[in-house]
Amino acid sequence: MSSSNPRVAILMGSDSDLGVMRAAADVLDRFGVPHEVRFLSAHRSPAETVEYVEAAPDRGVRAFICGAGMAAHLAGVVAAHSVLPVIGVPLRSESAGLNGVDALYSTVQMPPGIPVACVGIGQAGNAAHLAVRILALGDTELAGLLEEYRIELADGLMAKNARLDELGIDAYVAGQQR
Ligand code: RP5
Repeated sequence: MSSSNPRVAILMGSDSDLGVMRAAADVLDRFGVPHEVRFLSAHRSPAETVEYVEAAPDRGVRAFICGAGMAAHLAGVVAAHSVLPVIGVPLRSESAGLNGVDALYSTVQMPPGIPVACVGIGQAGNAAHLAVRILALGDTELAGLLEEYRIELADGLMAKNARLDELGIDAYVAGQQR
C-alpha cells in the first residue's frame, strides 16, 4: 500500500536490500498503514537523504524504518535529522563476510540523545510491528488490530499443541519437513 500520504517511511541503502526489507511493507499492509519505500543512502546520496527526512513530517510520516548493510549509518543519519522515531534494521551483506554483525553494531551503537531502536539482523517485519505499536499509541483502531493479532499468535501456537498431542513428535516433525 504505497501512499502519497505515508505514515511510515521505509528507507534502505540499496535496492539490493529490498528482498529483505519488503517484509516491513508486508506487515504495514496487513495493518492498513500507508507507507512509502525509498532507496536512500547515508553514503551514496547524503543530500537527498537529508532532504527527504526533513520534508517527511509535513507529508504525514510519523516513523522511519531504515535498513542498511555493512557500515550501516542510514538509521543514525535519519535520527540525526529528525525527532520522529527511527527503527533500524541491520542487514547481512553477502560481500562483507561478517553476517550482518557489522551492520548491527553500526546501527545500534548510537550516541546518547540520538536514539535508534534497532531490531535483529534482517528483522524488517519486526521493525514494522514496532512502528505499528508506536502509531497505535494514538490510534485506538490500530491498537485493536494489534490486540487481535496478539490473540491470533497465541491461538496459532495452542493449535500446534493440539496437533502435537494428536500426532506425536515423529509424525509432527515429518509433517514439518514435507
Ligand atoms: C549498504 O551497502 C546497503 O544498505 C547495502 O546493504 C550494502 C551493499 O549495497 P550494494 O553494493 O548492494 O548496492 O549501503
